[in-house]
Amino acid sequence: MASSLRWLVLYLISQLHLVLAQINASNIFIPEANTIIAINLPDDGSNDINFYVSSPDWYQYSAIGFGSSMANSLMLVMYPSADRKSVTVSPRFTNGNTEPTHRPVRITLHPGTELTTQMTANGTCHSCRNLQAAPFNPSIPANSPTAPVMFAVGPSSGAFSSDDLDARIRRHVAHGIFNIDVFKSTGSGGVGTPTNVTQHVTFPDGDSSLKKSSNKAATAHGILFAIAALAIAPFDTLVAAFLGRRWPKLHIASGSIYFLFVLGAMVPGIVISGQHVLTATMGTGHQVLGLLTVAVMVVMVGWGFVVRKKAGGQEVAGKGGWMKQVHAWGGRGIWVALLVNNGLGLKLSEQTRLLMLGYAVLAGGVFVFLIPIYFCLWRCTSARKPKTAEEDHELYNMPSIYDHEARFGYGRQ
Ligand code: HEM
Ligand SMILES: *[C@@H]1O[C@H](CO)[C@@H](O)[C@H](O)[C@H]1NC(C)=O
Ligand SMILES: *[C@@H]1O[C@H](CO)[C@@H](O)[C@H](O)[C@H]1NC(C)=O
Ligand SMILES: *[C@@H]1O[C@H](CO)[C@@H](O)[C@H](O)[C@H]1NC(C)=O
Repeated sequence: MASSLRWLVLYLISQLHLVLAQINASNIFIPEANTIIAINLPDDGSNDINFYVSSPDWYQYSAIGFGSSMANSLMLVMYPSADRKSVTVSPRFTNGNTEPTHRPVRITLHPGTELTTQMTANGTCHSCRNLQAAPFNPSIPANSPTAPVMFAVGPSSGAFSSDDLDARIRRHVAHGIFNIDVFKSTGSGGVGTPTNVTQHVTFPDGDSSLKKSSNKAATAHGILFAIAALAIAPFDTLVAAFLGRRWPKLHIASGSIYFLFVLGAMVPGIVISGQHVLTATMGTGHQVLGLLTVAVMVVMVGWGFVVRKKAGGQEVAGKGGWMKQVHAWGGRGIWVALLVNNGLGLKLSEQTRLLMLGYAVLAGGVFVFLIPIYFCLWRCTSARKPKTAEEDHELYNMPSIYDHEARFGYGRQ
């Protein structure tokens, strides 16, 4: 009796072994993203790839890609379907580190594809191992014992769902690369029922961790423009209005720093514009207003030098001359445009409400803080001025940018 039980146990173990052996698939569990990915290469001569991806639905999307860099690799991007009952799997392509766009590659989805708190795709990508249509790189390189597979998840973005295979997606918040064992992934059993185990995969440099996708250029762009609008612009306005009379070179210095700072802050913005389809043509409100503002700034800087040259130690007709007034009001307009455009930028990058509110409070705070200073300085400077007939009109003549000494005879010797 004992001996037959022993045989039964041994028999069951051998059967279990057979069941497990039939699943010839690479399987990876990524705990940081609670994601399971499995890849199987059917050995029926079809060049198909069976794939299974399961990620939490709070990500805008979960994607795999066949290759070790985004450029020219076939990527499969999964997001909740419009009715939020299933998922959409969109085959995509890009030739750089930019938002991939849809390409017509045939995908079939099998039972097990669903949307719960996880979005799960259980599908087949047809003839995908070596897509004949250039410019895709071969997904599974021929005669290589391993094949690299990429993984990326999109930012959490309020219940995004779509049936559109070319829906716009945002840059990932995390990504990773692993290598599947091609031999151990080949077989007729499909992906089976993938679980949270990692097998038949290796990691480049032995590093299995998920990488956070840093977005340094976008962060730098935002912070630099915040500094420009909240600190440098008001500083330069004060310098121009009050110190510019006595020391016009101060405003030339502060204004140049301001101008160069804005140009520098714009550079990373232009770089990241190329990353998404929506922004690549420079058509969003934030980009248009930003470029316009910088263009006006270029004109105003040039204008300032013209005004200075024209004045040449002599008074231009009227209160500093209309040319000075244009320069001064242009400067104020640029400042307001920068403040507003920073808000548009925060909106474009879908920042949290808290951050946008924080920015609005800071921007408002700068005004509240500056108005008394502005008023006080204005009183002080008008009190020290030699009396002229013009003083009667002082109320209408708020201090203007580049309102330099010529008017009051503080000579530039
Ligand atoms: C809007 C869409 C996307 C944008 C704008 C984007 C942008 C970028 C950028 C700029 C990088 C360079 C590294 C970095 O700065 O963090 C990168 C790397 C990477 N991306 Fe994307 N990506 C997008 C979608 C995808 C998708 C769908 C996948 C699919 C798996 C993916 C996988 C990867 C991987 C694995 C890396 C690291 C590989 C390397 O270092 O070359 N990306 N991406
Ligand atoms: C995935 O699809 C295959 C083929 O239809 C099926 O055999 C398998 O059981 C499915 N896996 C899951 C987890 O539903
Ligand atoms: C799985 O791979 C093993 C070799 O590793 C092979 O003997 C077996 O036939 C394969 N299973 C299937 C279902 O193809
Ligand atoms: C994997 O799943 C099993 C069963 O669902 C669970 O008991 C186990 O804790 C999980 N392991 C990890 C690392 O999440």
